[in-house]
Amino acid sequence: MNVLIVIETCFGNTQRFGEAIGTGLTGRGATVTVTPAAEAGPGALDGVDLLIVGAPTHSRGLPGPATRRMAVTQGADPAPTGVAEWLDAMPEYHGRAAAFDSVTGTGFLNGSAAKKIVKRLQRNLVQVSASDSFLVGAAEGPPAAGELERAEKFGASLA
Ligand SMILES: Cc1cc2nc3c(=O)[nH]c(=O)nc-3n(C[C@H](O)[C@H](O)[C@H](O)COP(=O)(O)O)c2cc1C
Repeated sequence: MNVLIVIETCFGNTQRFGEAIGTGLTGRGATVTVTPAAEAGPGALDGVDLLIVGAPTHSRGLPGPATRRMAVTQGADPAPTGVAEWLDAMPEYHGRAAAFDSVTGTGFLNGSAAKKIVKRLQRNLVQVSASDSFLVGAAEGPPAAGELERAEKFGASLA
């Protein structure tokens, strides 16, 4: 099974969760590539059986230019574009998909980038089979205790 994990990150946490999800899948025999959204070109989905898209939750949803600028003021070094722009330009895709995000809490007020990713994928007629949120201890991280392990299990569950 060929898996593509497209991520966006400002402080590195979502990338770490994406890599942990990848480890879970690799352990079940999958071939996994983790790619920043800004570097996933037009052919990125060729031959992909499972697409996983992940982003940090910003202002209760997906990062955009304004929230990335806010992250920079907090010491982040994000790519100029991310998951929202990648989903806008996403080529036709007929395989399975899943979504995840990183968040500082799971209450209603925290919102969820993953929920937005699911809606955007479905709008592109992509079937989404799973979605989860992974906690960071603070905006800049690190991942909260046990969350990288939970991400690895999430990955294994998708195999
Ligand atoms: C501009 C900005 C807005 C944020 N808004 C939210 C939010 O609405 N809800 C939340 O739970 N976390 C919020 N956070 C915390 C991020 O979710 C956290 O920084 C992110 O999960 C870290 O992942 P990263 O290292 O991949 O960027 C925000 C962070 C930034 C920088």
